[in-house]
Parts: sequence; C-alpha cells; structure tokens
Amino acid sequence: MRAVWLQEFGGPEVLVPGEAPDPRPGPGQVVIEVAAIGIPFVETQVRSGVAPVPLPRLPIIPGNGVGGTIVEVGPDADPALQGRRVVTSLGGSGGYAERVAVDIGGLITVPPELDITDAVALLADGRTAMGLIRAAAPRPGEWVLVESAAGGLGSLLVQLLSNAGAQVVAVASSQRKLDLAAELGAKVTADYTRDGWGDRVREAVGEAGVRIVLDGVGGAIGRTAFELLAPRGRFVMFGAASGAPTHATVAEVFQRGIVLVTIGQFFDSPADIKAMAEAAIAEAAAGRLRPVIGQTFPLERAGDAHAAIEARTTLGKTLLIP
Ligand SMILES: NC(=O)c1ccc[n+]([C@@H]2O[C@H](COP(=O)([O-])OP(=O)(O)OC[C@H]3O[C@@H](n4cnc5c(N)ncnc54)[C@H](OP(=O)(O)O)[C@@H]3O)[C@@H](O)[C@H]2O)c1
Repeated sequence: MRAVWLQEFGGPEVLVPGEAPDPRPGPGQVVIEVAAIGIPFVETQVRSGVAPVPLPRLPIIPGNGVGGTIVEVGPDADPALQGRRVVTSLGGSGGYAERVAVDIGGLITVPPELDITDAVALLADGRTAMGLIRAAAPRPGEWVLVESAAGGLGSLLVQLLSNAGAQVVAVASSQRKLDLAAELGAKVTADYTRDGWGDRVREAVGEAGVRIVLDGVGGAIGRTAFELLAPRGRFVMFGAASGAPTHATVAEVFQRGIVLVTIGQFFDSPADIKAMAEAAIAEAAAGRLRPVIGQTFPLERAGDAHAAIEARTTLGKTLLIP
C-alpha cells in the first residue's frame, strides 16, 4: 500500500511517500480503508524533532487520527463490523497510509448524518475541545479569550463557548482568520500580529479584563493574554504553537489569584478521552457544532500540508486524503 514515511527529523521535505506492507488484522482487530487523516499541529513539531511531547524512534509512518471503512475483520472480531464507517486513534503512528489495522476497542462509529471527513476533523480537536471546555467551565456572559481562534481546535472552541453563552474574544494572525471566528460566534476579534492588540482587547471587554484565557500559542502572545486576565480568572494552557510555553511565575499566579488549568487535567482516563470524542461527534451530528475543514491534500503531499500549517496559512482543520 501507499504510505508516507518519516525517516529523519527535519523540514516538511522529510515526509517521503513510499510503500509499506498491507496490514492484516490480528485477534480483536479490523483493517480500515482510510478515507481521511487528520493532522494536528503537534505532528509538525514531532516531524521537526522539537516537540512538547516525547519523540518517537524513527523510521515511522506518522499520523494518529484516521477514518474510513472497515474492509477486513480479524479472527475473533464481530463479522458485522465489515463495511462500518469509523474513526479511530492509532496510538501515535501509522496513519499516513492507505490502510491501517487497529483494535476494535478504539473504534467510534460515524453517525449517518456526518461525512467521514467531518468525523476525522472532530476526532482529536473535538475531544480536546470538549475536555477543555469541561475543565474551563465557562459561565454565561463571561469573556473568554481564544488564541489561534480559526485553527482546528480554535474554530471548535469558539462555537462551543458561544453555545455555552460565553462572550468570545477571538485572536489570530490575519483578517481572514478573524472573519471566520466572527462567523462562528466571536463577539470581539483582534489581530495579535499587530502592536497594541492587548490594549484593543481591554478597551472592548472593559478594564477588568477577560475571565478565561485559552492558550495554545504561548510565547509573547500567551504572555499578553495572561496579562489580560481578570483577578481570579482561569488560565488554560494546552500548547505552545509559537515554540515556547507562556512564561509566568508562581508568585504572579499567587498574587493575582489566578486558577491555572493545564491539558493534563482535561481527561480522567483513556475511556473518558474516547467519550469526549464521541460527544463532539454527537454535537456535530445534532447540528450544534461544525467542523471547519479548511483544506485537504493528497496523501503524497503530506509535506506540503505540513508546510502550509507551519506557514500559518491554513484555516480550521487540515486533512490528508489517500
Ligand atoms: N488538536 C488537538 O487535539 C490538540 C491537543 C492538544 C494540544 N493542542 C494544542 O493546541 C494548539 C492548536 O492545535 P491545532 O492542532 O488546532 O492547530 P492549529 O490551531 O490549527 O494550528 C496552530 C496555530 O497556531 C498559531 N501559531 C501561533 N504562532 C505560531 C507559529 N510560530 N508557528 C505556527 N503557528 C503558530 C497559528 O494560528 P495564527 O496564524 O492565527 O496565529 C496556527 O494556525 C497547539 O498548540 C496544539 O499543540 C491541540
């Protein structure tokens, strides 16, 4: 089968199309004919060899989140699974491929209302968004600042927060991204590549500042957002797309009475992680959440997809199509 290999860490060009053996289902497994593969931002960091997560031993076929149709059922698995549309995580690798063999325990059935691509777009970003919102516990009327608000995760957070009655401040790097965030429900938008963006947000929300910050960017942007937080506000940290996590001292957190929430607090167990993905997919099936698939790339062009994500030109979710 066709697959994309990572043989060495480096720029997008190290993602090289090639061949891999056709997978066969072991006991309790199925083989999925892959229809779409999700690329979360962290996969670009892992590929470059500088990531906030442990790096894998190479070579690997990257890719953790896929969806498609079950084409082969393993020895002791239910034959009725044949033909079912599913999405699943793969334990970290193997996804940039035409077919994958996976344990049936991780399968999530795609509801008839959704395309497989929509369910793939929701798998990682949806479960993270649901776990994050539960941990951040926004209340109606609260001002909540969302960084990279037009990204895969950000575009879902803006919608879930608006649905919960919160008032969203969307911040991102271009007018096109801010327009998308406004369309998804943001009340206030600001371009954080422009000087003084923090002052403009404070003017819009009032001197007290925002009640919650959702920080997936870190660095100078995360720091400005930290300073916009009202006393006793919640600072939710779940990534460092800028390359560095937000810097603040424990003394600052103490003096301002800030509640720090980190991604390690989003989920209780592996079963809970799966349940959050199912909940996001159910929200979409009910028409209350819209995955934004901004762009797709053929599998062989995985490198181009990574380059676009790193260049910050993508909107919403980026998918590979085998
Ligand atoms: N997706 C998940 O399930 C998941 C899980 C855990 C953690 N996270 C974290 O959540 C954040 C968002 O993840 P995502 O997968 O949804 O990605 P994404 O938001 O679709 O893409 C990352 C965004 O970060 C912003 N950014 C800021 N500085 C950047 C820089 N120097 N280089 C590149 N991008 C920069 C860009 O938005 P602007 O152009 O608007 O600045 C870019 O679009 C990441 O930090 C990620 O590690 C995501």
